[in-house]
Amino acid sequence: MQNIKGKTALITGGSKGIGLGIAQSMLDHGMKVLITGRSESALDAAKNQLFSSDEGNILTYVSDVRDHDSLRSAVDTLLSEWGNLDVLIANAGVGHFAPIDELSIEDWKETIDINLSGVFYTLQSGMEALKKSKGYFITVASLAGTNFFANGAAYNASKFGLVGFTQAVMLDLRKYGIKVSTIMPGSVATHFADHVPSEKDNWKIQPEDIGQMVIDLLQMHPRTLPSKIEVRPSMPG
Ligand SMILES: NC(=O)c1ccc[n+]([C@@H]2O[C@H](COP(=O)([O-])OP(=O)(O)OC[C@H]3O[C@@H](n4cnc5c(N)ncnc54)[C@H](OP(=O)(O)O)[C@@H]3O)[C@@H](O)[C@H]2O)c1
Repeated sequence: MQNIKGKTALITGGSKGIGLGIAQSMLDHGMKVLITGRSESALDAAKNQLFSSDEGNILTYVSDVRDHDSLRSAVDTLLSEWGNLDVLIANAGVGHFAPIDELSIEDWKETIDINLSGVFYTLQSGMEALKKSKGYFITVASLAGTNFFANGAAYNASKFGLVGFTQAVMLDLRKYGIKVSTIMPGSVATHFADHVPSEKDNWKIQPEDIGQMVIDLLQMHPRTLPSKIEVRPSMPG
């Protein structure tokens, strides 16, 4: 099993939901984590919620994944604090759902710019650091990246694109010793698309379950790479 204690990670969209769950799992395993998001107050709330025996293991950085410069600054901040970047998680994403004859150009653009282009910008910002560390790049796609549904044109397009992107990137980067995986969850109990998590969501995957999955990937023997992982609630709600 790979020792991950002391390894560093940057998680986009780490202030809530899946990103926050991954951050907590990493801290529980002795990693150092920088989380990003657009809202400073949400990042502050997340920092207060995250538990680590060493507060120096948590950094926050206000960054919109549509803004390359803010992503580069987030990576630079992590590198100046901790020296190297071992794990980059492209998790930030949004959901707009409408029939195609009602879908606005604004919602289309926001979905593609954040969920797809934002992942490319995230990788570009961390790529050189990952080459140096022979690190791990993980994208959070969705089962919507393989199953299409009504009202899902923008979201399906972004996630089908992201699955294809991540698989191609996996082939490009493995020659540098960088591992690349995409995780494709079904329903997870989060704030996604303005949802408010409650007890009614107990049947869903919980954010810490995705956190555990990421830890399992990081601990896997270097010779083996689960490159595309579908994960769903074991019992539909
Ligand atoms: N929940 C599900 O059922 C489910 C299933 C499959 C896949 N996913 C995927 O999981 C990922 C995380 O979603 P979630 O369910 O955890 O949703 P969530 O609870 O709404 O969390 C989304 C996170 O992303 C951040 N974010 C959104 N837009 C951003 C941007 N432009 N730049 C930087 N950060 C941004 C949010 O913070 P700010 O708003 O403050 O920026 C927040 O921290 C998404 O890619 C989503 O598509 C979710």
